[in-house]
Amino acid sequence: MINIKLTVNGEVFEDTVTERMLLVDYLRDQLTLTGTHVGCTYEGVCGACTVHLDGEAVKSCLLLAAQADGHEITTVEGLANGGPLSALQQSFSDEHGLQCGFCTPGILMNMSEFLTLNPDPTDDEIRHGLIGNLCRCTGYVQIVKAVRNAARAMRETS
Ligand code: FES
Ligand code: FES
Repeated sequence: MINIKLTVNGEVFEDTVTERMLLVDYLRDQLTLTGTHVGCTYEGVCGACTVHLDGEAVKSCLLLAAQADGHEITTVEGLANGGPLSALQQSFSDEHGLQCGFCTPGILMNMSEFLTLNPDPTDDEIRHGLIGNLCRCTGYVQIVKAVRNAARAMRETS
């Protein structure tokens, strides 16, 4: 067992975990932050488990909880954190950028980092940025539109 201390969505947690516990399992099972999904049996393929580690989008099924020790994690629950939806979340709602919604938390976390790095992306750049996120429902057209419109809204308010 190993002791870890980390910040998740602005709150500090101190916990004891097994050395082998994955970050995604720690978030879901120990902190009950079940917005972070597992869609590919921990293979790093689907992107549904994407969270931010110190502001960088990472797949939490590919990290151990112990590797998050001393770091700051943001999950999809932290995007709004009890307040109004983020511009990206609002745009996904407005543009119907989801169907079943299983992939959505990972896409939101990936694209929220993406838009900080590229605030005015082309559709091709958005599609390229989505390479690590699999969606079985939507065909991606509305997802791309939601990201494009969120980018515009964020530029207009910045
Ligand atoms: S569960 Fe992590 S990439 Fe699929
Ligand atoms: S909306 Fe169902 S998997 Fe993406």
